[in-house]
Amino acid sequence: MNFTFFAPGRVNLIGDHTDYNGGLVLPSALSMGTYLTVTPLAETDCCRFSSGNDAMAFTLRSDELAQRQHSWVDYPLGVIKEFTDRGIPAPTGLHFHYRGDLPIGASLSSSASIEMVTALALNNLNNNPFTLLELVKMAQHAENDFVGMNCGIMDQFASGFGQKNCAIALDCNTLGYEQVLLEMQGLKFVIANTKKKRGLVDSAYNQRRSECQQALEILQRHCDIQELCQLDMAKFQQLSAYLSGNLLKRARHAVSENERVKQAIQALKCKDMATFGQLMNASHASLRDDYEVSCPELDYMVAWAQQFEGVLGSRMTGAGFGGCTVTLIAEEQVERFTEELGKAYEEKFSIVAETYVS
Ligand code: GLA
Repeated sequence: MNFTFFAPGRVNLIGDHTDYNGGLVLPSALSMGTYLTVTPLAETDCCRFSSGNDAMAFTLRSDELAQRQHSWVDYPLGVIKEFTDRGIPAPTGLHFHYRGDLPIGASLSSSASIEMVTALALNNLNNNPFTLLELVKMAQHAENDFVGMNCGIMDQFASGFGQKNCAIALDCNTLGYEQVLLEMQGLKFVIANTKKKRGLVDSAYNQRRSECQQALEILQRHCDIQELCQLDMAKFQQLSAYLSGNLLKRARHAVSENERVKQAIQALKCKDMATFGQLMNASHASLRDDYEVSCPELDYMVAWAQQFEGVLGSRMTGAGFGGCTVTLIAEEQVERFTEELGKAYEEKFSIVAETYVS
């Protein structure tokens, strides 16, 4: 037996920090992702986990699989626990070898792709007891419960449901979705990695999430909503006097970002990429000023890109505090853009950025 499975990473084109507020997101799967090869192991009472991207390998007995190791292996272990919690016996006598071509911790969902590839493999090895949507939910729950990152569903959903040349317009409240064809008309999305280590991202993320929850609870005293993103901007303005300080800013981002995603989906369908680009710019400003999840490196790259010839829009993507930007740009400018951005960024921060053209 020797099986290889694959799950992609994603770039979110617009709609960040809306997923756990019951809003819309517009991610697109990447061709980069995580490969998992499963082979038999001589020690039949253990499982071995190794990675081409991390020297730390683990050989664990079945009774150790439910213990956190505070390492990359917690992503697969969290997913295994989701299976055992549903009555599927823990795997044994198997070697799980992971290999990825995604930059790690760069807001392109390397962790979700490890979770999803593990879920796909375990499902397959057990004769597919779960649907793809169930696997997505199990992968998200593994990250919430086992790893302790209170993420929404966007990344695992994009990794599971992503299709070539499409973005997924996903309503995170109903999980209704639509594959929207990316008709690029001579444009490209360029991803640029700040290579900024995302310190404390999990705790800051969980804190933002709890601020949104607090804002929601206050607004629920005045209107009948279950999620912040059920409000449109007009309704939010009427209610905004009940909020102040950070709670007002966080909620305003969630509601306005959700409106931008709605408009961006329309723009994409109408092939109005100029509008799409402007919405990307506005999204970045809101993530920077209201949600406060950007950082000097991301702001610099985005501002630099926004003034570059042929650029229609640029923004940070994903959770923030480092990671990547995504820029919509005319194809013929891509080469000069990546070269000059690299130079300017290195001069400013002494870090060599990486770019990926999707
Ligand atoms: C991380 C989380 C997602 C989402 C984004 C921000 O990637 O895993 O659920 O909240 O941040 O949009």
